[in-house]
Amino acid sequence: MTPPALDTLAFRRLMARWPTGVAVVTAREKDHDYGLTVNALLSVSLEPPTLLISLTEIADTTPVIARTGAFGVSFLSAAQRDLSDRFARTIPPEEKFRELAFVRGTLGPALLQGATATLECRVRQTVPLLDHTLFAGEVVAVGPGEDATPLVFHRSSYGEAAGETSVKLPAAGPRHA
Ligand SMILES: Cc1cc2nc3c(=O)[nH]c(=O)nc-3n(C[C@H](O)[C@H](O)[C@H](O)COP(=O)(O)O)c2cc1C
Repeated sequence: MTPPALDTLAFRRLMARWPTGVAVVTAREKDHDYGLTVNALLSVSLEPPTLLISLTEIADTTPVIARTGAFGVSFLSAAQRDLSDRFARTIPPEEKFRELAFVRGTLGPALLQGATATLECRVRQTVPLLDHTLFAGEVVAVGPGEDATPLVFHRSSYGEAAGETSVKLPAAGPRHA
């Protein structure tokens, strides 16, 4: 077998240079809520609208999604760093949801208030891969969310995306017609 081109730490450091948004993925089973922070999330298809998440097999939420076939996604705003930290901690699921403001989706998962958008997905395909499980979920419901600055993860720390509202035009200089 050829040796890996990168060791784990080097790969981690390299991927830290790839900025991403941050979301909380949630699931519900037998009146219990589960959730974790994710940034391994991408849109895979427009028709039908489908997104892909990659979850470590040791997360509490992973087997719940596998069994229930549904999950919720809340895109975090810059004001929700504390929730990103909370949902990334290995603590009992009920502690993650303590005094949390959320609405209940039609499929059951909690959808966080203050998120920039919320989605509910039905699992279309599940792919076990190495120590993760990939879930392709068809988006069956969306919430518009807050018109807020999104939370960004880059170089292992949080930042804020400067959106349309923060674009600054140069005070002087050439202008395009
Ligand atoms: C910014 C950020 C992004 C993360 N992205 C993922 C991810 O995409 N998939 C994943 O399985 N874990 C991801 N994690 C780690 C999980 O949130 C973490 O392992 C969490 O503790 C799992 O919950 P549990 O241990 O209570 O089951 C991320 C953590 C952070 C801080």
